[in-house]
Amino acid sequence: MSSRHPRGRSVTKRRGLLAALGFGLFSSQAAAQTTPFVDQGTGIQFQRFFGAKTNFGFGVALPTTPSNSFIGQLSFPLVNGAGWGGFSLTGDMEGPLLMACWADGKGGIQASFREAFNEDDDPPEVTGAFSVKPISEGTSVNNTFLTFTFLCEGCLDDSLGLGAAQTAGTAEMGWALASTAVRNPASSAGVLAFHNSGFGDFKANLGSARNAEFETWAALVGTALPPGANARAFSGNGGDSGDDDGDDDDSDDEGNFGTGGGAGGGATTGGGTGGGGQTGGGFDDGDDSNDDSDDD
Ligand code: HEM
Ligand SMILES: *[C@@H]1O[C@H](CO)[C@@H](O)[C@H](O)[C@H]1NC(C)=O
Repeated sequence: MSSRHPRGRSVTKRRGLLAALGFGLFSSQAAAQTTPFVDQGTGIQFQRFFGAKTNFGFGVALPTTPSNSFIGQLSFPLVNGAGWGGFSLTGDMEGPLLMACWADGKGGIQASFREAFNEDDDPPEVTGAFSVKPISEGTSVNNTFLTFTFLCEGCLDDSLGLGAAQTAGTAEMGWALASTAVRNPASSAGVLAFHNSGFGDFKANLGSARNAEFETWAALVGTALPPGANARAFSGNGGDSGDDDGDDDDSDDEGNFGTGGGAGGGATTGGGTGGGGQTGGGFDDGDDSNDDSDDD
């Protein structure tokens, strides 16, 4: 949500300009909302944010009585196999649990939990009482596109930014997309560069994401991906403390985030073709806005 309030802190001029563009778009457009989407590979029914300019998608499916987990699906274009996409459990980058994924360069997908302490550095990898379990039937990757479907187990918790009690209606969530290569992509600690292709927040209709089939879908999961050796415990200290943005949304309570202990991200093998293919043309749609939230 802070993208509505460009900050005068340490962001570069370039980002400041793009943030200003984002501000203009926001002020003239209704907030993006999720809509129903059925994944063809698995039949999973998501509430999905989709950016028509970027082709970035993030879907959420929940059980009828959410407790601590959801099924997620990240889907987005790659450029010659490069790029990353991710989501935030709130509309903010700093504070909540983030997850990003990318092609590992070996035909599979890396997924990694992150926590941002500022908006300048690659958010470090974190672990906690949460884990990512791939659903291979809904996962594929080639040189031009990636789809990662997973159970985000233990990801719903107030301490992470989104608790089960907040899933009854709508909740603000965030997304980010980069077309630049992840450095050291075979590692879950791979270095992410700025989300140059787009980022923003959206209103997730989580009440409508509930489905009695959830347990059937959740049974499709594989084993949890292991976190990297150097992943640190999620601290909940990455929040807005010390920044002056006057967010009036209720997701700005990151200062209260707690600490957990458990498993994190790691590598999975995609169900699709990996490497070697030609890049499809036409990915670059000429949209130089870095905030695609007006897409819906
Ligand atoms: C090197 C890595 C990264 C850099 C340099 C970076 C930088 C930034 C900057 C400067 C903004 C603020 C723009 C504004 O206030 O208008 C921002 C916003 C955002 N970022 Fe990142 N980011 C990075 C990684 C990530 C990752 C990995 C995610 C999620 C998986 C993410 C999610 C978001 C979201 C949702 C926003 C919009 C909400 C907000 O402004 O707090 N970012 N990022
Ligand atoms: C890559 O995967 C996408 C999505 O599954 C598909 O539409 C596209 O045709 C594939 N490209 C190649 C070169 O196989």
